[in-house]
Amino acid sequence: MGGTPVFALIKVNLKETINTSRLPKHIAIIMDGNGRWAKQKGMLRAFGHKNGTKAVRETVEACAELGIKNLTLYAFSTENWNRPKIEIDTLMRLLVSSLKKETTTLSDHNIKLAAIGNLNALPNKVHRELKEVIAHTKDNTHMTLTLALSYGSREELVNAFKEISNKVKNNIISSESIDESLINNHLYTRNLPDVDLIIRTSGEQRISNFLLWQIAYAELYFTSILWPDFTKENLYQAIVEYQKRERRFGKTSEQIN
Ligand code: IPE
Ligand code: IPE
Ligand code: MG
Repeated sequence: MGGTPVFALIKVNLKETINTSRLPKHIAIIMDGNGRWAKQKGMLRAFGHKNGTKAVRETVEACAELGIKNLTLYAFSTENWNRPKIEIDTLMRLLVSSLKKETTTLSDHNIKLAAIGNLNALPNKVHRELKEVIAHTKDNTHMTLTLALSYGSREELVNAFKEISNKVKNNIISSESIDESLINNHLYTRNLPDVDLIIRTSGEQRISNFLLWQIAYAELYFTSILWPDFTKENLYQAIVEYQKRERRFGKTSEQIN
C-alpha cells in the first residue's frame, strides 16, 4: 500500500473537492433504511440487509482510499434485539458470512477490525468469527474499522459508571480523579478519537442510542438515501459538506480564523 499524501485535493465532481489534510479523523455511520429499500422493491427485509453489505464494502474501501483513520459502523443496536427472531437470525447469519468473506479485503487494505458493544450477547458463532477476524487483522495500521454490535450508548455508560464506582469503593481511584478522560477510558471506544462526522442514511434524523458521549462535538449529516443505495459518491458528498462547516467548539468565528 502506498502512503496517503499529506496534502491533496481530490476532485469529487466538477465543482467540489476534498482536502485530504482536513479529513475527519473519525467517521461514524448509522446505516439505516435496509427494510424500506427492500419494501420499495416488493422484497423481504432480508433482501435489503443482504444488499446493505455491498454498501458496507464500498464505504469501507472509499474511507481507506481517502485516508480516513477511523470508521465506526452501527450494525446492530441493543434495541434491535426486539425485532422478530427471524430477522435477527438473518442479520447474524449475514454477519458471519460477511466476516468470512471480507477478511482478505481488510488485510489487502491494511485495515484493523474492532468491535464495540455487548459482544457476549451475540450468538457464539458470530462472537467466534468476530474474534478470529479481530485477531487476524490486529497488526494492520492504515485504518480501524469498528463494528458496533449489540451496542447501546446508555448501556455503555451504565457499565462505565459501575466500573468507576467499584474502583472508588475499593480505593483504586479517588472520586476527585473522575474527569472526562477517566470516563472516556472506561468506554468501549477508549482507543478511538472523538467522532468528527456522524452520517445517518434513510432520512431519519435521530441518534438512536449511538455514541452519545463520543459525538458531543461531531458534525451531523443526514441523507435521505437508503443504506443499500449508499455509494462512494455519497460518502464524498458528506465529507465535502463537513469541510464546508466551521467547527467553533464554543469559540467565536473570529477566534477560529
Ligand atoms: C438498518 O436498516 C439495519 C439495521 C438496523 C440492522 P433497517 O432494518 O432499520 O431498515 P428500515 O429502517 O426498517 O428501513
Ligand atoms: C439504528 O437503526 C440502529 C442501526 C442502524 C444498527 P434503527 O432502524 O434500529 O433505529 P430506529 O429504531 O429507527 O431509531
Ligand atoms: Mg431502521
